Amino acid sequence: MTTMAPQRPRPTSVAVRATRFGAAVASPRPSAPAALVPLYEVPSVASDLYDEIADCPACDLARTRTQTVPGSGPLPCDLMFIGEGPGQREDELGLPFVGRSGQFLDELLASIGRSRRDVYVTNVVKCRPPGNRDPEPSEMAACRGFLDRQIEMAQPKVVATLGRFSMARWFPGERISAIHGQPRTLDGVTVIPMYHPAAALRNGSLRAVMMQDFARINELLKAAS
Ligand code: URA
Repeated sequence: MTTMAPQRPRPTSVAVRATRFGAAVASPRPSAPAALVPLYEVPSVASDLYDEIADCPACDLARTRTQTVPGSGPLPCDLMFIGEGPGQREDELGLPFVGRSGQFLDELLASIGRSRRDVYVTNVVKCRPPGNRDPEPSEMAACRGFLDRQIEMAQPKVVATLGRFSMARWFPGERISAIHGQPRTLDGVTVIPMYHPAAALRNGSLRAVMMQDFARINELLKAAS
């Protein structure tokens, strides 16, 4: 007789996800902004991958994380954003870009008629670097396979990199101040490097720059169709 391994609950809904992490509730945690509720739904194509990420012990970030932050949004998806790594709020909620940077990302998306519901958002590393330090090369390398698989599942027409760590995958050695907003088609995907939203929170003059760079996205999606 085959003995079945106990099934790990999958984060397919708010209730399941919250239960998995200890709070047996049937509705979102009060701290989760209402607008983010749909993001708790894991695309079925990604649920095995998200489980693997949740169990990943590959680098030291596994020891300090509250939970992993795999990504949010539908898969496949024509438009994908790749940030750096989860911060404190993301680590608490298990969702990418839910802090102040995320609020600005929402504004940027709204400026091009989009919302989180129709874009896929993830990070180079899926666990919070302690104190929000930069991710180490070894941590990015340990997470690379997950990002590769997410890109494969998304089949995006356009990838927007947010900040220098995701930019380095496609534009190694280049400077964000020189190439932001300038798309290139690489391996059949249009990649547009963008500043990280946190950079615009630190330096207000980058807000308008980011708005301008975002304004190119719809034209790139159209051209890639
Ligand atoms: N910064 C990132 O790069 N990713 C997040 O998810 C949040 C902040």
